Amino acid sequence: MNITVIGTGYVGLVTGTCLAEVGNDVLCLDVDTAKIAMLNDGRIPIYEPGLEQIAARNVAAGRLRFTSDQREAVRFGAVQFIAVGTPPGEDGSADLQYVLAAARNIGRHMDSRTIVVNKSTVPVGTADAVDAVIREELARRGADVDFAVVSNPEFLKEGAAVEDFMRPDRVIIGADDPQAIACLRSIYSAFVRNHDRLMVMDTRSAELTKYASNAMLATRISFMNELANLADKVGADIERVRVGIGSDPRIGFDFLYAGCGYGGSCFPKDVRALLRTAGDNGVRLGVLEAVDDANEAQKRLLLDKIKARFGNDLKGRRFAMWGLAFKANTNDMRAATSRVVIKGLFDAGARVVGYDPVAMPEARRLFRNDDRLSLADSAMDALRGADALVIVTEWKEFRSPNHAMVRELLRHPVIFDGRNLYDPESVRGYGLEYIGIGRR
Ligand code: UDX
Repeated sequence: MNITVIGTGYVGLVTGTCLAEVGNDVLCLDVDTAKIAMLNDGRIPIYEPGLEQIAARNVAAGRLRFTSDQREAVRFGAVQFIAVGTPPGEDGSADLQYVLAAARNIGRHMDSRTIVVNKSTVPVGTADAVDAVIREELARRGADVDFAVVSNPEFLKEGAAVEDFMRPDRVIIGADDPQAIACLRSIYSAFVRNHDRLMVMDTRSAELTKYASNAMLATRISFMNELANLADKVGADIERVRVGIGSDPRIGFDFLYAGCGYGGSCFPKDVRALLRTAGDNGVRLGVLEAVDDANEAQKRLLLDKIKARFGNDLKGRRFAMWGLAFKANTNDMRAATSRVVIKGLFDAGARVVGYDPVAMPEARRLFRNDDRLSLADSAMDALRGADALVIVTEWKEFRSPNHAMVRELLRHPVIFDGRNLYDPESVRGYGLEYIGIGRR
């Protein structure tokens, strides 16, 4: 099948590449010509495990191509996936300008029946807005071309996006047009072949499912984070509590890890966008308001702990930071806790030496004019002469460091473990002071 994917960000690139991998002919469109040139040159602008090899293979096979030519892209695909960004507007609502511009462009150029599939994370009702914009453009041209709009939210985790696309938990199709539903079923049959994991529903339910899913996960994390803060005070260990409650199958073990707050491009933005939708509809989601507030506080918790240990005035101090990305296996620093902690340390007069396996170029870009942040060549190098170690991201390579060496390199043998990577007792056995999140 000929498929167009509009937008070559995380979602668009992964979607286009994986659809090509199973035999479709895919043309990816982006208005960013520099990005398209880079992709045509065989370079992938994001870090996502596995993506580069699969993309290269499909480009070589001629099944995956990239263009900035909007007319060509719209006329190519019988199915057009919209996978552009929906950044938060000033009031927290999702900014739909890119989605609607893509829709307008489809309406402007399409010349045969087209199925428009919205993959971007969008507020309830957007499928109807996309439909209206396309209709408007067709009317302007005096063209009579048939189309259907489908809502097909993505559930990709950064760092595992290829795997998530190839072996999805579920595929949600929000549509009422039988031919469009059949077409999407056929496209996704390559990925859900042996499991009945494709669910068809109306567009509004599909749109809400995406937000509900992220909001539920964010809620679990914030709840565990608040329990961890209580555990800290009452002398309990949140890791034991996690195992204790997770064994109830109604609760389960996933997404119960207390830490220094959630970040990334989805949870913070989607929680706020859902709160906005609720507000616009006169519904108060009090639980979700608290989830967002708790996370803002949690991102500052490491700072509070550092100040409780070293004092409010950190002038002349230098902290080593392991992990800059918002989570492991990505170079993404959007809404990352590291940024809040670095900024807070700067404000208190300290300097930071950071290390991250893949996010350092991104950190350099974000803090480019600030010499208070320097970057080290290795995790151990970051420790040399630093006052203490602050761990912000759960990268595998931080899991079993040579603790004796850590103790030797630090001026004060203190670890602030924002991701609860270590067993407190064993770390203390090396003469290190261990300060985790809700640990005994
Ligand atoms: C999320 C959803 O998981 C995915 O389904 C959706 O499509 C996009 O948003 P992502 O933002 O890539 O994916 O990251 P995720 O792995 O969900 O982690 C989000 C944040 O929560 C990270 O900062 C992570 O460190 C934090 N987290 C996760 C915790 O603090 N505790 C946990 O138990 C799990």
